[in-house]
Formats: sequence, C-alpha cells, structure tokens
Amino acid sequence: MYEKKIAADIFWIGVNDRTTDLFEGLWPIERTGISYNSYAIKDKKNTVIDLAKAFKTDDFLSQISAIFPLSEIDYIILNHMEPDHTGVIKTLRMLSPDAEILCTQKAVQMLSDYYGITDGIKIVNDGDTLDIGSRKLSFHTVPFVHWPETMVTYDPQTKTLFSCDAFGGYGALHGGLFDDEYPDIEYYEKESLRYYANIVAKFATPVQNAIKKLADVEIECIAPSHGLVWRKSPSRIVELYSKWAEYGKTGGDKGITLLYGSMYGNTEIMMNAVSDGIASTGLIPRTFDVARVHTSYMLPALLVNKGVIVGAPTYEASLFPYMSVILEKAALKNIKNKTAVYFGSYGWSKGALKKTLELTEPLGWEYIETFEFAGGPTQEDIKKGYDLGRKIAEAVS
Ligand SMILES: Cc1cc2nc3c(=O)[nH]c(=O)nc-3n(C[C@H](O)[C@H](O)[C@H](O)COP(=O)(O)O)c2cc1C
Ligand SMILES: [Fe+2]
Ligand SMILES: [Fe+2]
Repeated sequence: MYEKKIAADIFWIGVNDRTTDLFEGLWPIERTGISYNSYAIKDKKNTVIDLAKAFKTDDFLSQISAIFPLSEIDYIILNHMEPDHTGVIKTLRMLSPDAEILCTQKAVQMLSDYYGITDGIKIVNDGDTLDIGSRKLSFHTVPFVHWPETMVTYDPQTKTLFSCDAFGGYGALHGGLFDDEYPDIEYYEKESLRYYANIVAKFATPVQNAIKKLADVEIECIAPSHGLVWRKSPSRIVELYSKWAEYGKTGGDKGITLLYGSMYGNTEIMMNAVSDGIASTGLIPRTFDVARVHTSYMLPALLVNKGVIVGAPTYEASLFPYMSVILEKAALKNIKNKTAVYFGSYGWSKGALKKTLELTEPLGWEYIETFEFAGGPTQEDIKKGYDLGRKIAEAVS
C-alpha cells in the first residue's frame, strides 16, 4: 500500500463509491460517483476522523491499515452519524475494541439505535479539545449541517477543518485529493451545487450559522467528507456555500428556470412561445421536461435562478404528476421567494393551477401571472405567452 497525505501526519483514508446509483436512495450519482472521505492522524494517539458506508468496509479497513494497525487506533471521531460516514463502525469496533468513539451527546442514542454500540464512547461538547500528542483537536457543533448531532473537528496545527458534509460535493475523486490538482475545478463546483441543492439546501440557516460560528477560526484547509479537499482556496467553497444559503432569502440571481410537462403538446406550444418571449429580452431560460429529467438536476437551477416558470396541464383534476413531484421537492428543500408564472392546458374541469398554488404557497413564490387555457392555445393565447415571457424576464432582471 501507499499513503495519501493531506499534511505531514494526516492521511486521506477515504473510499470512492462508483457503483451506488442513487445517493440516499434518491439522488442519481451513477455518472459522477461520490467519495466518502475519512482521515487518519498519526500522532501519539492515533486518530481517525469520519468513516465510510458499510458496503465499502473491506476497502476502508485496508486504507486504515496502510497508516496504522487497526489494533492501534486510539480515537474514532464521528462528526456525523449518517451511515455514509458511520456504516463501517460496527466492524471497526470489533476489530479495534479499545478505540474510543468521540461524538456529541445527540449522537449517543443514534450509535445505539443504528449499531447497538453503547460503550467506549466519549461525549464531546461544543468547544471541547482533545490532546492527541502534538496538537489539541477542537470540536464545534454545527447542528443540522446535516443532522441534529453534527459537529466539525479542527486541527490547529495544520489549520485544517474536518467539516464533514458541510462544503462537500458529489463526484468521486480521480486520484488527486486537492482543489489545486484538478484542471476542471468547475466540474466539482457544479457537483457541489447539485449536492448542496439536493442534500443541504433545507438547512440554509444552520449552514449560515455554522459559517458565522467558524468565522474566527484560522482555516488553511477544508477537508470535507465528500469531494475535494480545499487546500488552495478554502475560502472559495465557503463563499459558494454562503451564496447558495443566501438564495433562500434573496430568491436567487437573474435567470429563469422553465419547468414544463405536456401530454399532447398543447402546453408545450405555449412553453415555446414563453421561451421565445424570454429569449427576445436576451435571457435564455434553463428548460426542463419534468417527466424526463431527474429532480436532482432541476433543484440547482431552481435554487440559483430568481424566476420560475411552471407550465403543466391538468391531470385527473390536479397537476401533471411529475410537476407535483418537483414542486414538492422544491418545498422540501426550502426553495423560496421566487418570481413565478403558471400556464397550462386543460380539457374540462381545470385543477392544475389550484394544485400549483397549493404546493408553492408556503414558499412565498410571487406569481406575476397565471393562466389556464382549454385544449390548444389560440393565436391570441400564443401572443399572450410570448408577452408573458418578456414580462417575467424583465421582472427578474
Ligand atoms: C389521463 C388524463 C387525465 C386528464 N384529466 C383531466 C381532468 O381531470 N380535468 C381536465 O380539465 N382535463 C383533464 N385532462 C385533459 C388535459 O388536461 C388536456 O388534454 C390538456 O389539453 C393536455 O395538455 P397537453 O396537451 O399539454 O398535455 C386529462 C387528460 C389526460 C390524458
Ligand atoms: Fe449527511
Ligand atoms: Fe454525507
């Protein structure tokens, strides 16, 4: 084996997952993969920070063993109890029975509930430190980034923040660990946004609180539990997360997400007219066919763009089902304060608009116009759609 260093005595012992198709059983990662980053610190007390998903147990144990024997682990720090970072703990506990687990008070019950582990646990409180020989690691609680028990760990010697899910992203690592090693950093930034929109967006306020709380900590390296280690520009990923968290309040930047679904093409005709109207102002909407694109890819656009267009017909006295799915996800992820438009075709009863408003009412979306039309759009309707496109483009500019 060989070592993968992130500092003189800190090693990356994570694993790449390129076979799970849906992260959390929900979000497609089959084309990107994901890494479960874990770190080993070789000091007077050998320390492991965060683990990996259970099905990678063998790989993970080999990674640790390359740094120190499993029997010589002193501390296992669990920043977060979600099984993508703790799944191997049951096996590790059997192989390293003397290693003490460090976690927050709130994680203790979870350790018992998920893994039946009730002893050999040391509870750490916010601000506590742990002397491991040449340095004192400190612990900082960041509740709800991503679960209530979550904390981060800081090494003052290397000024490294082990931030767990915070500042993480999708994308398996391709050999390199660091932001400065990748020529296509935009890929990881884009996958970090998708990860944020899918996993973290619900917790925008806890993210902002965590960033505020850590503002005075001198950080030279951010080592999250997914994705790149940010050594060249740790501030870059913090700025991105801050910006994304702020969108919950501002509603986003200039831009329009166009969500549409259509069974027989009538709503689609209107969608094209609205797009043409938007484009005539110089703005190009990000267009998604809600029946064909996974919500994972629509959420980042919804988060970032101030404008949203919902174009979908009535289906069984309600909204075209895939449109309900994305709007429900938007509600779940707190995609708030948008400038919106609704249009859609119906046959006899209507119902899609009512459902759209019901789903997005808690999100404070402001509809500048809504209209339903029977059957195919008339020439007049099409002109109205074009003008509506211009109107929303101007409203978000
Ligand atoms: C399975 C199905 C269920 C529908 N349910 C309703 C309904 O409950 N109320 C209604 O007004 N129209 C209903 N319609 C009619 C559509 O809303 C109408 O055909 C509309 O023009 C479809 O728009 P599209 O061409 O964009 O798909 C239904 C159509 C289908 C195929
Ligand atoms: Fe998590
Ligand atoms: Fe995670």
